[in-house]
Amino acid sequence: MEFAFNLNPLLPDEITIIDSSFSNLQKFQRSSYDSHRSNLMQVIDNMGIASGKAQALPNAITSFKRLQYSDHRLYVLKDAFANNMQGAVVGILKMGRKKLFVYDMLGKQHEMEPLCVLDFYVHESRQRHGYGKVLFEYMLQQEQVEPVHLAIDRPSPKFAGFLKKHYGLKDCIPQMNNFVVFHGFFRDRPESG
Ligand code: ACO
Repeated sequence: MEFAFNLNPLLPDEITIIDSSFSNLQKFQRSSYDSHRSNLMQVIDNMGIASGKAQALPNAITSFKRLQYSDHRLYVLKDAFANNMQGAVVGILKMGRKKLFVYDMLGKQHEMEPLCVLDFYVHESRQRHGYGKVLFEYMLQQEQVEPVHLAIDRPSPKFAGFLKKHYGLKDCIPQMNNFVVFHGFFRDRPESG
């Protein structure tokens, strides 16, 4: 997704992690802070809307405002060289912990706060080129988590295909909520959940 401004100062890394502290804005001088903040809002809101549309959701689940009031982390992948070197946003991946009741294979309920995949979107022009895998792998490394230990908020058919292809995740443990967990979710979990 391209924008009318240069994304590269705003998103300094190939994958920039944004949370409620918006630390990527802190380097900007007072005089230009507001315009950069507004640009970042455009980036997050427009990607959030596109993701919502791609999943046929009634509302976007990712927005600047929502991020501001959460402890979620948004991973943003860019192509620094696209759009005449102004950069383009390729995809987003939103992660966060949720308090959930999760059923195990025996139907026993566990109250826990697992790390969840909350929103995942690669721009239509870039899908099926490996960008989702790049974003997901980076997240796994940063969060120090195994794919099988994640809970997934309503995975779409494309995301289900992605998890099966790249991580062999296909067999779910039936749950009473919208989150999907796979066989192995309860095995060798770290203390932090
Ligand atoms: N149809 C079926 N499977 C697909 C499709 C598709 N159109 N697109 C990607 N996949 C799956 C397949 O397994 C594919 O492998 P294949 O091409 O060999 O069949 C694999 O993903 C490709 O891997 P990547 O190229 O690394 O993935 P991509 O960059 O396409 O990103 C993503 C995957 C994020 C799911 C992307 O397809 C997308 O944005 N889809 C639309 C939005 C969406 O459904 N997001 C997930 C919502 S659920 C949630 O966020 C918790």
